[in-house]
Amino acid sequence: MRELGPSQIHLWQYPIGDPPDARHLARAMTLLSDAEKNRCAAFHMEKHAAEYALSHAMLRLALSEYAPVRPEQWQLLTGEKGKPEIAAPALDTPLCFNLSHTDGFAVCVAGRFRHLGVDVENMNRRTSHQELAQRFFAPAESEYLRSLPPSLQREAFFRIWTLKEAYIKADGRGLSIPLDSFCFRFPTENPAQVALESNAQSNPDHWSFFEFRHGEDYRISIGAKGPASGTLQVLRLEAATLF
Ligand SMILES: CC(C)(COP(=O)(O)OP(=O)(O)OC[C@H]1O[C@@H](n2cnc3c(N)ncnc32)[C@H](O)[C@@H]1OP(=O)(O)O)[C@@H](O)C(=O)NCCC(=O)NCCS
Repeated sequence: MRELGPSQIHLWQYPIGDPPDARHLARAMTLLSDAEKNRCAAFHMEKHAAEYALSHAMLRLALSEYAPVRPEQWQLLTGEKGKPEIAAPALDTPLCFNLSHTDGFAVCVAGRFRHLGVDVENMNRRTSHQELAQRFFAPAESEYLRSLPPSLQREAFFRIWTLKEAYIKADGRGLSIPLDSFCFRFPTENPAQVALESNAQSNPDHWSFFEFRHGEDYRISIGAKGPASGTLQVLRLEAATLF
């Protein structure tokens, strides 16, 4: 069993090959629930089905690192706010998770507290970032983006996007939180600091954010509100070793 202390977050990362690893995919299909297999079958493109299968299998394998439960035995359900959580088996110590996947990459986080969210985005995705920022970001975030030299805007856009997603996923309410009701600021670049301003009741000081890159293409953000948010630590782990 793997140790996961109260102030630790484990970030599992899995680069999805093109084509995906056939052995991993075959193993993944043996681990998914019937509902997950049905979702896989509903995808029109094989690529999307593989991304879904590998991500959800990775999550099951990762959870089994922390409890004597086989990966296929986990029963997951959607909580009242829409966030997936463990329904069974009952565990002695709380175990919480969040999952994110994008074209070519999947990540999940595990921790001992509920408010934990992760987002990964492929920065090669074709986007009109000014337009999306105008539509979804808080005014101060759009303004910050516009203030940057054009060569830095794409990465900064994905930085804010993944932070916003990680926050709403950690909270659990997803997109029912208005995206302009909270705002990220970056007081210093070196070391990179992230500050959250929110008009919601939840005190922004209790939140911690962590940012990572995988190679040139992927940006990952984690949002966490833990019992000891100021002292949280993230350990990055390779999920390919689990298959
Ligand atoms: C559903 C949502 C929670 C995440 O969507 P996403 O970024 O497209 O997808 P991700 O891969 O990061 O996360 C999906 C996983 O999050 C989990 N998830 C779903 N609802 C969730 C919720 N309310 N809270 C936390 N996690 C959730 C699930 O495990 C899901 O996996 P699945 O779709 O394979 O079942 C929601 O934020 C959304 O629809 N976002 C759309 C994008 C957008 O407009 N973002 C604006 C950012 S500025």
